[in-house]
Amino acid sequence: MPDSAHKLRQIEIVVTREVDISHARQAALALAQALGFSRAAAYRLATAVSELGTNLVFHATHGGIISLSPLDAPGRVGLELVASDDGPGIADIDHAMCDGVSENGGLGSGLPGTRRLMDEFEISSSPGIGTRVVARLWL
Ligand SMILES: Nc1ncnc2c1ncn2[C@@H]1O[C@H](COP(=O)(O)OP(=O)(O)OP(=O)(O)O)[C@@H](O)[C@H]1O
Ligand SMILES: [Mg+2]
Repeated sequence: MPDSAHKLRQIEIVVTREVDISHARQAALALAQALGFSRAAAYRLATAVSELGTNLVFHATHGGIISLSPLDAPGRVGLELVASDDGPGIADIDHAMCDGVSENGGLGSGLPGTRRLMDEFEISSSPGIGTRVVARLWL
């Protein structure tokens, strides 16, 4: 990663409205670029941010938080994206992760598409408590 990237910190964006999604997207592109990711990888991350941010706006009761963190493991540079909210949660995660499952007339590829775009993907959700998606991209 570039020397200047060592000062990079975690960024948190509160996402409740559609305009917040574009702020999160911009922040993701800037962080990916600062860490030395290729343009193609930066856009993969930005697309994942858009999908998870859209789910926060349209499926979460009070929106949620997108957090972007540089990962500086020994010999390895990466970036972690976390989308979290406080409800309503997803009762059937296996079903939600299927291509074509949509509640809002979308393509239903937000969650499975995000899993394909990122190197690592974990989702946990409890009905009535909330949903948390953690995804990572490695340089
Ligand atoms: N943060 C969330 N809170 C509650 N339910 C969610 C959340 N994110 C996704 N879901 C549920 O998982 C389903 C699948 O999400 P996914 O993003 O794949 O599709 P979609 O949002 O319905 O359609 P698309 O993203 O293609 O517009 C949603 O229809 C919704 O029921
Ligand atoms: Mg979606």
